[in-house]
Amino acid sequence: MEALGKEDNGSAIVAKEVSKTYDKKVEALKSVNMEMRKGEVFTILGPNGAGKTTFLRILCTQLMPTSGDAFILGDSVVNNPKAVRHNIAMVPQDAMAYSNFTPWDYAYTFCLLRGMDKPTAKRKAEEALRAMLMWDHRKRPSQTMSGGEKRRSLIAATIASDAPVLMLDEPTSGLDAIGRRNVWSTLRERAAQGKTIILTTHMMDEAEMVSDRLAIINKGELVTVGTTNDIKKMVPFKYRVIAPEEAIDRSRYSEVTTIGDRAVVYLESDQEALEMVGEMLKKGLHAEASPVTLEDAFVRLVGEDIG
Ligand SMILES: Nc1ncnc2c1ncn2[C@@H]1O[C@H](COP(=O)(O)OP(=O)(O)OP(=O)(O)O)[C@@H](O)[C@H]1O
Ligand SMILES: [Mg+2]
Repeated sequence: MEALGKEDNGSAIVAKEVSKTYDKKVEALKSVNMEMRKGEVFTILGPNGAGKTTFLRILCTQLMPTSGDAFILGDSVVNNPKAVRHNIAMVPQDAMAYSNFTPWDYAYTFCLLRGMDKPTAKRKAEEALRAMLMWDHRKRPSQTMSGGEKRRSLIAATIASDAPVLMLDEPTSGLDAIGRRNVWSTLRERAAQGKTIILTTHMMDEAEMVSDRLAIINKGELVTVGTTNDIKKMVPFKYRVIAPEEAIDRSRYSEVTTIGDRAVVYLESDQEALEMVGEMLKKGLHAEASPVTLEDAFVRLVGEDIG
């Protein structure tokens, strides 16, 4: 495989035909090609078991691909993992701060280990702990903290690092709404400073809020890459109306999805959506109209396969 040069071509991460088969039978990744640009927040979406964690573990050199290669700032994860590790910091899925280590221990020690001098490490650790609302908790042993606090502690340590590429596997799972917003704004800030951020999530609002671009993978294969708007455009309707299922005359609409006692009706124009909401209101029923969402696109792209 042709090695990439170190010249600055604007790419931070390039995955080339990355495949991973576990135990010679589970094909977790099938020849995935992907490119992430410097300074962007790039989100990977996909159903459970799609291969997101496998992909991130390969990018951060925890796992070797079965075939193919990926380049982080030009360094191959296969041939030069040491150089790759120098440029990345990672929050693994489900990782938690543990034992009697404190949030300060994690953030400050991580900065020292990455080669910062003590004053810089102190400054970076404080900045990151404040950003993650963990400054007041900095001296607490991890074992005394809540699940969300433990998670925020690890995110703070990653954010404190000077690594140009940050990888976060479901960073906000288990975080409350305020904690999530803090993570989003901190990731956006770091990207604006030039860091490249790759994360995974199951939350469509998060993907929409935080990402410059996103990729959807399913069953180990890349389904699509683009901005939120690019991906929403893959839905052949512009609007959706949510209304009580029993009040919908299905024969009038070409696409209706039922979710329990509610139905999502897909429509071409704002006029049709307004008319439908008006009809429901006249009947004393509740209905809501909005443009189609990222979730509509996601379900359409991978939904048939996950039932
Ligand atoms: N160590 C392993 N040994 C065998 N199979 C594995 C291993 N790790 C993952 N798999 C399988 O590989 C596939 C991809 O798993 P992966 O953890 O990458 O999915 P994911 O997209 O991160 O899912 P989730 O959203 O549930 O975290 C799944 O079928 C999973 O069961
Ligand atoms: Mg995962």
